[in-house]
Amino acid sequence: MSAPDLSTEFLSLPLANPLMNASGVWCTRVAELEALLDSAAGAMVTKSCTLTRRDGNPEPRYRTLTGPGLAGSLNSMGLPNEGHGYYLDYAAQHDYEQKPLFFSVSGLTLDDNLTIVAAARDAVLPVQLELNLSCPNVPGKAQPAYDFAAMDELVTEVASAYRRPFGVKLPPYFDFAHFDAAAEILNRHDHLAWVTCINSVGNALVIDTANESTVIRPKDGFGGLGGDYVLPIALANVNAFHRRCPGKVIIGCGGVRSGEHVFQHLLAGATLVQVGTALYEEGLGVFSRLNRELARLMESKGYSRIADFQGALRTL
Ligand code: SIN
Repeated sequence: MSAPDLSTEFLSLPLANPLMNASGVWCTRVAELEALLDSAAGAMVTKSCTLTRRDGNPEPRYRTLTGPGLAGSLNSMGLPNEGHGYYLDYAAQHDYEQKPLFFSVSGLTLDDNLTIVAAARDAVLPVQLELNLSCPNVPGKAQPAYDFAAMDELVTEVASAYRRPFGVKLPPYFDFAHFDAAAEILNRHDHLAWVTCINSVGNALVIDTANESTVIRPKDGFGGLGGDYVLPIALANVNAFHRRCPGKVIIGCGGVRSGEHVFQHLLAGATLVQVGTALYEEGLGVFSRLNRELARLMESKGYSRIADFQGALRTL
């Protein structure tokens, strides 16, 4: 059998493979974006942007977590970014032939979001706009996706302002009633073409026993959890929205650090799979390693292409 074909499509765009960075990792500055473009990732996304530049939360605001057999991260970055114009300038010179570019938007108010969305619309670029409804780290700002009325209003306003396909990034949900409520809102919008599941598990607390203290400074130590700890939560959300939003593409994010994890996200219904903590820890070489591991696993199962198993999770 010849080597498995990892190529795939996102909204009819061809990709060499289903991997991309998770927004926030390796995507804040142009030099990082250019390195991502040259990496083995199939697509890439910019750091979630606000209307104007932000320094983000005070340091230390990211901690690598190691535990017995588990690896992960806790972050409370607070949306440090260069402001929306910086990323639109990058988007204007991005090589779309090489790989698709997602433009992540996380305005601090409805008006900020609409201003950024209008700027992206008027730039008329082949960029994929994604509305981040799930940043847990801005003090005093709730995650819009945990307030269904606010989420409904924001998605409705953005859909009518943008008038092109766009996506949303969701936080994890933990109850079928919440999967249903979120899906009902998303399914009402034809222009809402994809759903990225999940952002970090917000407001987790990690304690340093020796120092009897928190491990990051912002928000009294509460931050977004990523890595191994969140893989089953991410898979549940990918599969829950894959089942409930049959007309929408699902992008999986959370807990991916091996080819087997990529396979599991695809099996649960993801079309693309993002890498966050593992990219932060390992660097850009993670993409070729994950592609190799995915290909080896597919080969061992007799699969020659992703469509052979994508979304085909069996239940007992
Ligand atoms: C951050 O900058 O705090 C992370 C962004 C996010 O989780 O959406």
